[in-house]
Amino acid sequence: MAENGSDRAGASSFSDFNDPRAVVSRSKFLTGATIGLGGLIGVAVAVPVLGFVLGPSFAGEDWYWTSFGPVDNPAYKEGAYEPVIFERGKNGELDRRVAYIRRDGAEEFTIISNVCMHLGCPVQFKATGFACPCHGGQYDTEGLVTAGPPIRPLNRFEYKVENGQLLVGRPFATENVDGKVVMTDQFKLPGEPVGGLLGWLYPVPPV
Ligand code: FES
Repeated sequence: MAENGSDRAGASSFSDFNDPRAVVSRSKFLTGATIGLGGLIGVAVAVPVLGFVLGPSFAGEDWYWTSFGPVDNPAYKEGAYEPVIFERGKNGELDRRVAYIRRDGAEEFTIISNVCMHLGCPVQFKATGFACPCHGGQYDTEGLVTAGPPIRPLNRFEYKVENGQLLVGRPFATENVDGKVVMTDQFKLPGEPVGGLLGWLYPVPPV
């Protein structure tokens, strides 16, 4: 009997699906397959997203520095803003931007974006500050909001001076800190808050 029992057990392990061991084996297989498939789907979704987010970090930064000419250009004056229209982009896709430049020293500048921080209309510089024609947004000469619906100060461009040339880079969001404009290290679109919980809810868009 013992011999018969042993034979039966050995012969049924892969062919008798009523055998409890076969059930365990199938459930393990299905669990493993589900985990494996889930992992593959996760990788398929994550790789393009990571590429989109991290890609610019590896693309180099040369493409976004635009020469605005000699740093001692007399058009860049203290106490007044000079509007400059320029194109910037890569892979043949250029986009037109406007920056207002004010000289603050021999190699120091304030460079303000003309994009209103309400809904993105182009602001214009008047004697007392920047004004938006769309919904009456008003900013002072530093770009701080003085009236109307914009939720934060005007963005500012980073810049550097190299070989006597003024190079303008990316625009960054700014904040009003005790009545002073403070440039942040992130780019935000019009209407998007910068700090606090709401600031985290808006993803940082490509510059
Ligand atoms: S877009 Fe400038 S105030 Fe609305």
